[in-house]
Amino acid sequence: MTHFVWLLSLLLLLSSATACDRCVHQSKASFVTSVAALTSGACGYGSAAISLNGGNLGAGVSSLYKGGAGCGACFQIRCKDPKLCTSKGANVTLTDHNYDNRTDFVLGFFALLDMAHNGMARDIYKLGIVDIEYKRIPCVYEDQNLAVSVEESSQRPYYLQIKLLYQGGQTEIVGVDVAEVGDSNWNSMSRNYGAVWDTSRVPNGALQFRFVVTSGFDGKWIWAKSVLPADWKPGQVYDSGVQITDIAQESCYPCDDGTW
Ligand SMILES: *[C@@H]1O[C@H](CO)[C@@H](O)[C@H](O)[C@H]1NC(C)=O
Ligand SMILES: *[C@@H]1O[C@H](CO)[C@@H](O)[C@H](O)[C@H]1NC(C)=O
Repeated sequence: MTHFVWLLSLLLLLSSATACDRCVHQSKASFVTSVAALTSGACGYGSAAISLNGGNLGAGVSSLYKGGAGCGACFQIRCKDPKLCTSKGANVTLTDHNYDNRTDFVLGFFALLDMAHNGMARDIYKLGIVDIEYKRIPCVYEDQNLAVSVEESSQRPYYLQIKLLYQGGQTEIVGVDVAEVGDSNWNSMSRNYGAVWDTSRVPNGALQFRFVVTSGFDGKWIWAKSVLPADWKPGQVYDSGVQITDIAQESCYPCDDGTW
């Protein structure tokens, strides 16, 4: 038992020694020229994707897509050839699942333009696959709270399907509960796919939500006290009143403390 406790504290010590806000990853990226390929992507953002990050979108491999939990995550990505690419690279929001595991990312045209020195985008595109390095960065939506979009397939009072937009910070939303405002009977919603959650046990009245987000080395609840009015309507986007600014940590050594 004592050995177990000792081992546990050693593991905690080791893990905290390598807990980083940011880690740099080496990989490869390829490109698509149409934004449509990414807006109609696996996350389900649809046309709302364009408003996420000026259309700077990308598809991530399974380890980044994380069964949909990675949707909306932001990355700074630069190609490693300084003749072709700027040192700042592109800030990209993940909106799709890349099933081709030869590259961590498939990037859209705007991201390609951002990465490239003036006039070099065509040369990068012709290469097909380029070496990149990337890090997770906080998503910043100034003056924009987390929003709950009620999807068209919702049908009050039987079925509620929502999509989460403008997820700030550097976290993943891994759980969503819904309850009537003022009531503590929470119903958990299921991830339908991507950034889309649903439930067929819809509470009556105005609705509040709580979100489980990854933060630090574990998670926390974020409570949105009043989001949907009692007469919520499919096709409408509602302000959650909360902004997510947390950072979920990764393990690596050394941590990346620099600014590109
Ligand atoms: C990209 O993200 C980095 C890190 O958060 C930030 O320093 C930089 O200003 C961003 N670039 C743009 C063009 O927003
Ligand atoms: C990549 O995907 C192929 C086919 O799905 C699989 O056989 C292969 O093991 C994968 N490679 C890696 C490095 O995951």
